[in-house]
Amino acid sequence: MAELKNDRFLRALMREPVDVTPVWMMRQAGRYLPEYRATRAQAGDFLSLCKNRELACEVTLQPLERYDLDAAILFSDILTIPDAMGLGLYFEQGEGPKFEKVVRTEQDVDALPIPDAASDLDYVMAAVSEIRGALSGRVPLIGFSGSPWTLATYMVEGGSSKDFRHIKKMMYATPEVMHALLDKLAQSVTAYLNEQIRSGAQAVQIFDTWGGVLSGPMYQAFSLKYMQQIIAGLIREHDGRRVPVIMFTKNGGQWLEVMADAGADALGLDWTTNIDDARRRVGERVALQGNMDPSVLYAPADRIRAEVADILQRFGTGNGHVFNLGHGIHQFVDPESAKVFVDAVHELSAQYHR
Ligand code: CP3
Repeated sequence: MAELKNDRFLRALMREPVDVTPVWMMRQAGRYLPEYRATRAQAGDFLSLCKNRELACEVTLQPLERYDLDAAILFSDILTIPDAMGLGLYFEQGEGPKFEKVVRTEQDVDALPIPDAASDLDYVMAAVSEIRGALSGRVPLIGFSGSPWTLATYMVEGGSSKDFRHIKKMMYATPEVMHALLDKLAQSVTAYLNEQIRSGAQAVQIFDTWGGVLSGPMYQAFSLKYMQQIIAGLIREHDGRRVPVIMFTKNGGQWLEVMADAGADALGLDWTTNIDDARRRVGERVALQGNMDPSVLYAPADRIRAEVADILQRFGTGNGHVFNLGHGIHQFVDPESAKVFVDAVHELSAQYHR
């Protein structure tokens, strides 16, 4: 395996010194890039793109050709696991993900298999090894999964939701069924992430996009607990290097103290929490990743640079910051604005690392 030429991202996650603050963008491969749209058209649709190792590798590398990014992220989706459980994932034009089958009852949960990551999700592992080879040590490769709670929202609702009606009913009316589903998902995610690590992922991120719709006690019992269970079961060292884990609960800013004790190396932050307050609250326990509002990328270059400067200044000196957006880059952003953002992070952060 080629030696890693740029390990800033991994070093920052372990709170080790770096020359400049590393940066990557959630959803960095995606529809805002014309070259992504062209490759997707060639594949036919999004899922076919995920299942084609050469094309998945191609779109993973596209943002790295344009920008000086410090990490690559596997091109795939969090909903590969429920799809491998037999729920029939599909995407309707402009409507987001949908499932042919939903999970609502104890019988539905009992019937779900725990996928064999190496065989049932072999196309994901093929993409991981293809990308890792193509990177040839340029930057580290991030693997990822959804959190059990976040995956369950799609499986129970049958797709995206605004009110989470069915899953909240399940949680409050039949908590034991909810727990059985989350436990199955936690086992599935653990095996899936470990297989990604064995296939070449050098760090992993758990996306808990919908943990923030819960009350504090329910977040701890139905989302955090299962992420903790996953993290406890992950391979933490591979090929002689630490494999850092990033836990990202969107809208989880109120719960940073308990999140910092879940066993992750780093916490992802959305833009609704000030990163200086967050740093004070987590102390030396974890690194922080974030947290610029992705909508700043609609502003002119000067405004983008000012926002980057503000976040860097709030974090201040010392180790343990990976710069990112607070959520995925929007599809209508001008690719040139993403370049302004990435370059600003490197240029303006050097003064904090002397
Ligand atoms: O960050 C990256 O570049 C890696 C790729 C990645 C995708 N999805 C590709 C994708 C990652 C890390 C994800 C994670 C994901 N998928 C999450 C968690 C992160 C988040 O954004 O909150 C969630 C909730 C999903 C589920 C999902 N997949 C949704 C809701 C959608 C529709 C979104 C939309 O904008 O229509 C997807 C589809 C999807 N996943 C696209 C991409 C590039 C768009 C597909 C396309 O039309 O080309």
